[in-house]
Amino acid sequence: MPDIAEMFAARVPRYTSYPTAPHFHSGIGDETYRAWLVALPPGAPISLYVHVPFCDTLCWFCGCNTTVINVYKPVSGYLELLHAEMDRVASLIGPGHPVTHLHFGGGSPTLLTPGDFWRLNVRLRCQFEIAEDAEIAIEIDPRGFRSDMAQALANAGVTRASIGVQDCDPRVQRAINRIQPEAVTAECVRLLRGAGIRALNIDLIYGLPHQTTDGLLRTVETALTLDPDRLAIFGYAHVPHFKKHMALIPEEALPGVADRFAQAEAAETLLKACGYRAIGIDHFAKPEDELALAQAQGTLRRNFQGYTTDAAETLIGLGASAIGALHQGYVQNISDVPGYRKALGEGRLPIARGVALSDADRARRAAIERLMCDLGVDLAAIAERFGQSTALFDSALTALEPWRRGGIVRVDGMRVTVAPEWRAATRLVCSTFDAYLDEGARRHALAV
Ligand SMILES: C[S@@+](CC[C@H](N)C(=O)[O-])C[C@H]1O[C@@H](n2cnc3c(N)ncnc32)[C@H](O)[C@@H]1O
Ligand code: SF4
Repeated sequence: MPDIAEMFAARVPRYTSYPTAPHFHSGIGDETYRAWLVALPPGAPISLYVHVPFCDTLCWFCGCNTTVINVYKPVSGYLELLHAEMDRVASLIGPGHPVTHLHFGGGSPTLLTPGDFWRLNVRLRCQFEIAEDAEIAIEIDPRGFRSDMAQALANAGVTRASIGVQDCDPRVQRAINRIQPEAVTAECVRLLRGAGIRALNIDLIYGLPHQTTDGLLRTVETALTLDPDRLAIFGYAHVPHFKKHMALIPEEALPGVADRFAQAEAAETLLKACGYRAIGIDHFAKPEDELALAQAQGTLRRNFQGYTTDAAETLIGLGASAIGALHQGYVQNISDVPGYRKALGEGRLPIARGVALSDADRARRAAIERLMCDLGVDLAAIAERFGQSTALFDSALTALEPWRRGGIVRVDGMRVTVAPEWRAATRLVCSTFDAYLDEGARRHALAV
């Protein structure tokens, strides 16, 4: 039996992209992105991600790109910039690209006034062709969520809401600076369902300060009383070197590696016993949910928003820090709003950095994505699809050999499968396929 503590003490990426964001560089900028957008094949479907980088208060665990504001004025100014960016991108791609997925994330997009959310939606619909059956999803902070916003979301055609809960224990909530009584979450769910938004996800986190396995299970049980279609149970990524406010979290109160592993396992056991299917490494869905169906059909995808049924090859990111994924590579917008504003003011697309992909990158990316989604991958099929020799994966297979002996993975010829009881080790398995990974990088969080 491998030593769990030793194994999971490694720091590895979450693989929402490959190469991962730390490997994006400033050699990819406005001009390259323009060329990539113009080259979009006629009729190609696209997905849109709209980032709103503002919150009312700062949760100390937060790893997202956001700023706390006390007055609304910066939000109005930001929306003007967002509109300008949308206009510019839309004119470059031209008409005829159906938008199959639209995601509002942050920060807290529900911090917009209902009127501003409506205007943003109208502008999006003027500039892009939102498909009639598009999934329109939004991340919701239930604190301060009101009925007029629920109605504005419904009017804008929102079909899915992800509700941030994290943990219900008041002691944990105090330690992460996020006081959210259960009644607040329940009321948010009631308002959303009342407005006709039926597809609901709940976000929880394990590995938070003072969290215990029993406490986490109580939180999961509370979440289940709200009958969500999906739950995400993320492992807390504690990276105070990169997110200074995380230093406010008492490190001595953080569960250790073995406790984190036990928490993730206990939550998974409970959710499976309650009829949910485990999706990828950290999501759960009802068996009839599209995510579970996609997983069963082998069509589940992973992008910056996590697991998705989105099949579009092109994801366009709008807003400060937003990341886009195109056939040619990835781009990321400037993260700070003043820099984002300056670039737009100078007539540029506000790109800070990115990375172009080779076919070898695409093959490695596909292997990692299949592992993250299916916990298994057929390396021969992937090598063939991307015109690569299977030798591309030799070093990964060598690195996986001790894991095979330890029963963590099965290797049958060129097929690699993570043992179901080692689901938590999937990111570690993926890291053996990562040609960019620098050993011991502190920028990443713990592997579990
Ligand atoms: C942009 S936030 C959600 C929307 C909304 N602002 C809220 O907090 O309710 C997306 C989710 O990312 C997760 N998250 C944020 N920081 C994290 C971290 N450091 N480690 C793990 N998960 C994190 C949380 O579960 C959070 O609900
Ligand atoms: S977790 Fe959500 S509400 Fe809290 S600071 Fe991050 S984005 Fe804002």
